Amino acid sequence: MEKQELIKEAFKAMENAYAPYSNYHVGACILLKDGKIFHGANIENASFGGTNCAERSAVFAAYSEGYRKNDIEALAIVSDGDRIAAPCGICRQVLSELLTKDTPIYLSNGKEEQDVTMAELLPMSFDMEDVIR
Ligand code: THU
Repeated sequence: MEKQELIKEAFKAMENAYAPYSNYHVGACILLKDGKIFHGANIENASFGGTNCAERSAVFAAYSEGYRKNDIEALAIVSDGDRIAAPCGICRQVLSELLTKDTPIYLSNGKEEQDVTMAELLPMSFDMEDVIR
């Protein structure tokens, strides 16, 4: 699957965003090396801390089906914001462990696009190797 197709799938995922509080809609789509895809959307909650971001929804869906970081080809994250939505701090921590450091991440808001990696988004990350000695 090409990059633009994956971005399109992320926009489809965004249609399922449940964001009655922020009205900020985010979609994500993970492409696996076997060609399978997993969608994710942001899902909010009256207890705001219970909100799940779109990229975490997508990566958790893939992991829940047994896929792991080396099975992931790319991740697209899109939003309806005026600027590209770069992952929040919590997502950076989660993605830095659940993706490889150089997995391509495609960001788009339909107007602008940017490709990044976790190495760029979260340098000097706190990792499993720090905890398990
Ligand atoms: N959000 C995401 O889903 N991903 C991001 O990268 C940035 C923020 C969601 C969380 C919340 O539902 C809404 O966007 C506003 O913060």
